[in-house]
Amino acid sequence: MIELRNVTLKYGDKLILDNVSITVKDNRIKAILGPSGVGKSTILKLMLGLIKPNSGQIFVDDVDITRMKEVDLYPIRRKMGIVFQGNALFDSMTISQNFSFFLRENLRLPEEEIERRVTEQIKFAGLEGYEDQLPESLSGGMRKRVAIGRALIFKPRMILFDEPTAGLDPVSSKKILNLIASLRKTSNLGAVFVTHIIDDVFAIADRVAVLYQGKIIFDGETERLHESDHPFIMSILSDKILEI
Ligand SMILES: Nc1ncnc2c1ncn2[C@@H]1O[C@H](COP(=O)(O)OP(=O)(O)O)[C@@H](O)[C@H]1O
Ligand SMILES: [Mg+2]
Repeated sequence: MIELRNVTLKYGDKLILDNVSITVKDNRIKAILGPSGVGKSTILKLMLGLIKPNSGQIFVDDVDITRMKEVDLYPIRRKMGIVFQGNALFDSMTISQNFSFFLRENLRLPEEEIERRVTEQIKFAGLEGYEDQLPESLSGGMRKRVAIGRALIFKPRMILFDEPTAGLDPVSSKKILNLIASLRKTSNLGAVFVTHIIDDVFAIADRVAVLYQGKIIFDGETERLHESDHPFIMSILSDKILEI
């Protein structure tokens, strides 16, 4: 569904992505694993058309979005939900309002339909009883659920996660990973998540691409990661480092 083809990206004269190709398929869970600062969030921004590469192309459903105008990107972005690392919730709005705001701003739906969808999403995300609370009164895991529920409100086919378990305790992390995995079964949803936590990859990803020093050094089924003879991958697996 999403493809980066031979993408090179520089910030100033600093080369971040060096001829990177990645594909994300419908109804699959793909992880992009790499150390901090390697360019993982940058990849998500490229997939959403928020930034442009220096060279190479980005396709969504075989449509080249690389040089697309902002207004043409809106319907493309609606195919994808995004859950930001810090959740990007509105602190001054209740949980319900965090959901309904986006619907009201982006779709011309009747008020009853907005309410129906908000109720559906609240239920799905396991947030019943928290509708009128502010995000700050919730735990990190619950806030993440709000961000996931909100990302689903436009009924995307794919959901993009930036470090979904960053800052969460192990129990909350596990719950969020289970929720991501369950989305595929319940909603036929694919996911791509970027992370520096190897356990997250083994927990739920069908496939993983490893990004290291600007290049993809592995891209394949998660269970084949141990077959790689790349020194970086061998070292993270043999040292049992949980976070790289
Ligand atoms: N807008 C920007 N301008 C300049 N440098 C940036 C910008 N955004 C990110 N960077 C740099 O690019 C590198 C990759 O960033 P990022 O994609 O956020 O990495 P990751 O998500 O893997 O930690 C980092 O060194 C970061 O400091
Ligand atoms: Mg990042």
